[in-house]
Amino acid sequence: MKRFITFEGIEGCGKTTQIRLAETWFRERGIAVLATAEPGGTTLGRKIREILLNRGSFAIGAEAELLLFAAARAQHVREIIFPALEAGRWVLCDRFSDATLAYQGFGRGLDIGFIRTLNAFSSLTLTPERTFLFDLPVETGLARAEKRAAGIRPEAAEDRFEREEKAFHLRIQEGYRSLAASEPERYRIIEGGADVETVRREVCRHLTALLEKSPSGGK
Ligand code: TMP
Repeated sequence: MKRFITFEGIEGCGKTTQIRLAETWFRERGIAVLATAEPGGTTLGRKIREILLNRGSFAIGAEAELLLFAAARAQHVREIIFPALEAGRWVLCDRFSDATLAYQGFGRGLDIGFIRTLNAFSSLTLTPERTFLFDLPVETGLARAEKRAAGIRPEAAEDRFEREEKAFHLRIQEGYRSLAASEPERYRIIEGGADVETVRREVCRHLTALLEKSPSGGK
């Protein structure tokens, strides 16, 4: 079994909070874990993230955007994720290939078949064992993201994706839902609109089930 778990969802879905709580859950059980994020996770990934989420004014077309996410992923898998998996650690990843299908495929309208091919290439054919989809109404997610961006720090300002129109986020939500429906074995849909503790308990319930299936309880 691959010890690779991804966290996905629309803006403001709560996955980043939940990945931190899940990381703590593994550590408390003495299980080696690494939590990481896309785009990011490596020096190259962080530089690409800055470009992609830029709050500046230069243009990035959909095709260039897709290739930048793919480049960040390729480096992330090779430099961080594979070595951690080979060392026997569990890897929790905040977004992965499904985000590219949802955002660049369903959101931007790029060809899904081509994105699947590119995803296989950039992920070195790695796929998650389990994917948590945090689902909640788009309005709720965007209101959360806006609240976060209302902070006075410039780095907390809304990013390029959060500034997109509501219809874009609705397409992404539909995309995620259809991806989850097409792979029910891998996906677990979590009600992301609930309070943090309720969501955490739900995630931990699924983690417990996953570890029970794993040799030596995941250790
Ligand atoms: P984050 O908000 O989860 O940090 O992700 C950064 C943004 O990048 C988010 O708006 C989703 C977007 N994104 C894509 O559009 N395609 C991708 O492949 C990934 C990983 C993220």
